[in-house]
Amino acid sequence: MACMLHAGVMGHCEALTKVDASFCDPKNNNECKNLGSQGGKCAASCCLPYRPGTKIVDFKRPSRSSPLRVRPAAHLVDPEHLAKYKKAIELMKALPADDPRNFIQQANVHCVHCDSIPDHDIQVHQNWFFYPWHRWYLYFNERILGKLIGDDTFTLPFWNWDSLEGMMLPSIYADPSSPLYDNLRDAKHQPPFLVDFDFNGTDPGFTNAQQIDHNLKIMYRQFFSNGKKPMLFLGSAYVAGDKPNPGGGSVENMPHNNVHTWTGDRTRPNFEDMGTFYSAGRDPIFFAHHANIDRMWSLWKKLSRKHRDFNDSNWLKTSFLFYDENADLVRVTVKDCLKTRWLGYKYQDVKIPWVKARPTPKLTKARKAASRSVKPTAEAKFPVTLESPVSATLKRPKVGRSRKEKEEEEEVLIVEGIEFDRDHFIKFDVIVNATEGDGITPGDSEFAGSFVNAPHRHRHLKEENKGKTRLCLGITDLLEDIGGEDDDGVLVTIVPKAGKGKVSVGGLRIDFSK
Ligand code: C2O
Repeated sequence: MACMLHAGVMGHCEALTKVDASFCDPKNNNECKNLGSQGGKCAASCCLPYRPGTKIVDFKRPSRSSPLRVRPAAHLVDPEHLAKYKKAIELMKALPADDPRNFIQQANVHCVHCDSIPDHDIQVHQNWFFYPWHRWYLYFNERILGKLIGDDTFTLPFWNWDSLEGMMLPSIYADPSSPLYDNLRDAKHQPPFLVDFDFNGTDPGFTNAQQIDHNLKIMYRQFFSNGKKPMLFLGSAYVAGDKPNPGGGSVENMPHNNVHTWTGDRTRPNFEDMGTFYSAGRDPIFFAHHANIDRMWSLWKKLSRKHRDFNDSNWLKTSFLFYDENADLVRVTVKDCLKTRWLGYKYQDVKIPWVKARPTPKLTKARKAASRSVKPTAEAKFPVTLESPVSATLKRPKVGRSRKEKEEEEEVLIVEGIEFDRDHFIKFDVIVNATEGDGITPGDSEFAGSFVNAPHRHRHLKEENKGKTRLCLGITDLLEDIGGEDDDGVLVTIVPKAGKGKVSVGGLRIDFSK
């Protein structure tokens, strides 16, 4: 299916109306059920408990009369809130193993939605369900925790990694005696070690000031420059018949995926727990990480009237199933979660230090002029396996667009036909009008963005675990900043950083997104 770059292409598509989890039926030889359709054998390690006869109720919005619950920044949580949170997690861990509200069962909810079983390739990553599905997932997790401690006002904290004070593993998760602790984390990435939004699998050795500067500029780029249109920010359309990973949104790719792998234990095969989706939910910090991602969705929609959710009914009417605080199965839809206040919560207001952190060009004017006339030493022949950096010159379909045209349509650099081994941590960077030798960092304007795959484990599948997706990067701001707006072409260089040889690229293209 197409990128939804132009309105209208969705018309012929059939909606993917139900994205249901897979349930193991213990009474029926652990047959994996998709409630309605019959799947194969439950070979995945993470099917959800299913009790025949369980009825499914439709979600009802909480009453509007109660005040909104406020999710606090994790580094600002007060002792009383922390005590409740620890108690709730303790109780969740102590529930019977087959209770769907049990801590591991809750982690498995994430596992079943990203580690597919044969015939049910259910995916909520690298497509437009990323924000709504995770919003619902956190909502029910939070309601269960609240119910366990008998506090209807309980909220999950958010890991405010985009703030100067929150840019490290929050200390409440780092205390080994706390139920919020997880020992499958990177030993070196303990507070006050700063998070790296560009994490490649090794630590870059920057000073704290450099790391902060890069992180803030990455936030700016992903949120503003690469997030100008719904498809770029929220992810690409995914409807029935599509391959499940049409392309993730800007923040999902980076820093969302990087923070996952940065937190997980790099000495484990899949960067467990946080670095791989089957186990990520076993680390309580997952929910704080995703609360911040959820907050990004809310912030983005406040930017302007153009920063809107899709109005495509294929998206709005898609439903998911979750167990609620009473262990009842609830059917929820995308359209019911578009505003956090409809779900009874909001986020604590905190300063946003990256609103003015626009990346700056690294290369000087003279050098820039030279780099544009210099052809790459070898033009990449697509498809190409990324063992080392590859470059290609790309003709731009339109040059010298007016301000109005630029606002209406964003120029998008599309890295197409990305085929990768989903079992591996993969990362490549895309830089424009510069080559690898120029030492471009994510703080520089020439850095267009990254593709990041957090590993998925599919040990039940014999065949190779191939993923196919694409990366869409808005480049209007970038071209303005590097003075390349009026050039007929751009030089694009792809630099593999993690998982070399395990990813190939089918081609490059420039298109325009409304
Ligand atoms: Cu469902 Cu952060 O991944």
